[in-house]
Amino acid sequence: MDAPQGHETEIGIAADAIRRGELVVFPTETVYGLGGNATDPNAAAAIYAAKGRPSDNPLIIHVANPEDAEPYAVTTSAYYRLARRFMPGPLTLILKKKPTVPLTVTGGLDTVAVRCPAHPVARALIAAAGVPIAAPSANLSGRPSPTTAKHAAEDLFGRVSYIIDGGEAEIGLESTIVALDGDRGVLLRPGAVTPEELSEELSSFEISPAVTAGLKENERPLSPGMKYKHYAPRAPLTLLSGDATAFYRYLDALSDKEHVGVLCFKEDLPFIKPPLTIFPIGNRADLRAQSHCFFAALRDADENPSLTHLYAHLPPTSGLGLALYNRALRAAAHTVITLT
Ligand code: TXA
Ligand code: MG
Repeated sequence: MDAPQGHETEIGIAADAIRRGELVVFPTETVYGLGGNATDPNAAAAIYAAKGRPSDNPLIIHVANPEDAEPYAVTTSAYYRLARRFMPGPLTLILKKKPTVPLTVTGGLDTVAVRCPAHPVARALIAAAGVPIAAPSANLSGRPSPTTAKHAAEDLFGRVSYIIDGGEAEIGLESTIVALDGDRGVLLRPGAVTPEELSEELSSFEISPAVTAGLKENERPLSPGMKYKHYAPRAPLTLLSGDATAFYRYLDALSDKEHVGVLCFKEDLPFIKPPLTIFPIGNRADLRAQSHCFFAALRDADENPSLTHLYAHLPPTSGLGLALYNRALRAAAHTVITLT
C-alpha cells in the first residue's frame, strides 16, 4: 500500500520504530492510537507502562486488510460478512485468538480484538510495519481519548518514539466493539457502526447491559475495559435529561455560575450566557458533529482550572446517539438529573 502523500517519510520512520519494538502514536478515523508490534510481548508491556494502564485490559490488534487477521485470529463467516460491509472502518470484532498473539496483548484472554482502520495513514503504517499493530487509544489511563496529535502529545510526549500528526480524527469516538460467537454478536462498546446496522448482518445480536448501565458490584465484565472508569473530566460532569426550556431554567438557577462549564448545542448559544463557560459541540440534530467534538470539549474544560462543575445534555440512545450516550455516561460517572 502506498503511503498517503506528504506522510511517506514519517510512516517509514514510525514503521521502523514499531519493528524495533518501540511505540508510536498514529491517527485513525476514530481516535489516535498508541501502537506497538502486536506479535511482540514486550511491546504490549511497554504500551501498558506508557499509558499507566492495568495489564489485564486487553489491546486491539490493527490490520491493514480484513484477511490479514488470518494468522492471528480464528475468522468466521460472520467476521467476513461484517468486514465486507464495515471494514476498513470503525468496527472491532472479537474472535478466538491464535497462538501468534502473545497473551500480554490479550490480557490473558483466549480471544483477540481485531480492527481494520480506515484512516489512510494508519493503513499505510500497518502495511509498512509488516506486523499487526496493537494499539489502545493514545491517552493516559483515565483521560479522554485523543482526537488530535496535540492531545496525544499532551499525554504521551517523551513516552513514545514518534508521533504522526494526521489531523483531527473524523469520528472522535472509539470503534464499535462486537464479540462474535458463530453468528451471534454481543455489542460491548457502541461506536459509529450502529446497533441498527449490525443487527441487519447477524442472526442474533444483543447489546451488553453494561453499555447503558453501571456494572453492579462483583459482576464479571465481558470486556475488561468495562470495569474501568474512563474519560472523567477534572470538574465532575452531570448530564441533564429534559427539554431545552428545562435545561436553560436549570442552568439559570445555579448559584455558582462563574465556575460552571456547559457542553452545549449551537441552538443553545443565545440562551446560555457568561458567566457560564460555553463549550460548543455542534447542532442539536448533528450527532456526527457532537461525537467529533465531545472528547476535545472535555479536554478544553480540563484546561480551565476555575471550573468546578460541568453540565451537558443527556444524548439519545438510538443510532450513533448510543455511542455518545455511553461515553457521556462514563464521563459523568453515571450522574444524570432528570429535569421536569
Ligand atoms: O477506535 C478504537 O478502537 C481505538 C483506536 C486506536 O483503534 N482503540 C481503542 O482501544 O479504543 P482501547 O484499548 O482504548 O479500547 C479497547 C477496548 C478495551 O475496553 C478492551 O477491554 C476491549 O477493547 N477489548 C480488547 N480486547 C478484548 C477482548 N479480547 N475481549 C473483550 N474486550 C476486549
Ligand atoms: Mg481507551
